[in-house]
Amino acid sequence: MKIVFFLVLSFSITVLCSPLPKYDSIFSFGDSLADTGNFLLSGALKFPVIGQLPYGQTFFRHATGRCSDGRLIVDFIAEAYGLPYLPPYLSHDKSEKFSHGVNFAVAGATALDSKFFYDRNIGQFLWTNDSLAVQLGWFNNLKSSLCSHKQDCEKYFKRSLFLVGEIGGNDYNYPFFVGGNITQLKAMVVPLVVGAISSATSMLIEEGAVELIVPGNLPIGCNAVYLTLFGTSNVRAYDKNGCLKAYNAFSKYHNSQLKIALDKLRQKYPHAKISYADYYGAAKRFFHAPKHYGFTETLMSCCGGGGPYNFNNSARCGHVGSTVCSDSKGYANWDGVHLTEAAYRSIALGLLNGSFTTPRPTFSPIYAF
Ligand SMILES: *[C@@H]1O[C@H](CO)[C@@H](O)[C@H](O)[C@H]1NC(C)=O
Ligand SMILES: *[C@@H]1O[C@H](CO)[C@@H](O)[C@H](O)[C@H]1NC(C)=O
Ligand SMILES: *[C@@H]1O[C@H](CO)[C@@H](O)[C@H](O)[C@H]1NC(C)=O
Repeated sequence: MKIVFFLVLSFSITVLCSPLPKYDSIFSFGDSLADTGNFLLSGALKFPVIGQLPYGQTFFRHATGRCSDGRLIVDFIAEAYGLPYLPPYLSHDKSEKFSHGVNFAVAGATALDSKFFYDRNIGQFLWTNDSLAVQLGWFNNLKSSLCSHKQDCEKYFKRSLFLVGEIGGNDYNYPFFVGGNITQLKAMVVPLVVGAISSATSMLIEEGAVELIVPGNLPIGCNAVYLTLFGTSNVRAYDKNGCLKAYNAFSKYHNSQLKIALDKLRQKYPHAKISYADYYGAAKRFFHAPKHYGFTETLMSCCGGGGPYNFNNSARCGHVGSTVCSDSKGYANWDGVHLTEAAYRSIALGLLNGSFTTPRPTFSPIYAF
């Protein structure tokens, strides 16, 4: 009896004291959905208001360079794994500060190199030239300061989570906003974008990444800027949630092609865990049933200068003539283009606590947020 009790006690002590297995670091690549400050640190010439309130007003209480009123999906993922918010790579801190990971994402970044857009005479619209390949170059430069020899790196990267995106949304935004059509983009741009995301994922695996999450695109047909620019009196163009069907179908097309590419990578690298993160599905939930997810308004942007979706290109969020809603927690759209912290939190919950990451990452989140 005594012995059994002792065994039970020592077992529970061991269980309680052994640290929960979790990631030690996170490396993030992408665009404004994930940028925690790189674009602002690089000068933010094409979007200077990112350096001022109301950006950051809800959580950080000052502008951090995040394209939202507060935390992004990557911030909630870091919190869930008990890790610090990822410092932006361009803060050029020493490797100690990067030991729990670093964020290479840059607002406005594209999966394709900027040359692709310059060659098609739309380069002048790019916010940044820091494409996915540029961000991978930064990772390679940094790598030698994170771990020194092969075994050391293998061990370190086995306990690192790599977020490859979201990236690719801007490769479509730039051409759509200057009149590109869906048929053309599906045929000519989607295969290249998916190829770029797939080769970045491959390269990271070759460099030692084992745990990777590759997100798809959001339902852009529910986004205030798309709804404003491509609004039509044809009611049949809208789904029952008020979103533009054709643009949502385009996002789904990109996502289905990406999933096919990821399946191929899984066959090529069976030792790697490549998860697809369904941002579309996780976001579509709150467009479909706003109240259930805590939202009062999902299509109008919280911060903007008027118009049916409160998006006005000549009075965008942060500029003269724009106003901020009083309850950003009830809104999904922040500034017409980007989402609110509340929306990013809802998506992150769907990824970490729901079924929108397939397969599930190896380690479970340790904190709720
Ligand atoms: C991107 O590169 C081009 C030259 O290739 C340059 O003219 C442009 O200013 C750069 N854009 C930004 C935002 O740095
Ligand atoms: C899209 O562009 C293609 C080629 O330029 C053209 O043939 C087609 O009619 C356009 N489609 C729409 C819906 O505008
Ligand atoms: C996550 O899911 C679990 C069970 O499915 C639930 O108990 C928990 O409250 C959820 N956490 C959050 C933050 O929603």
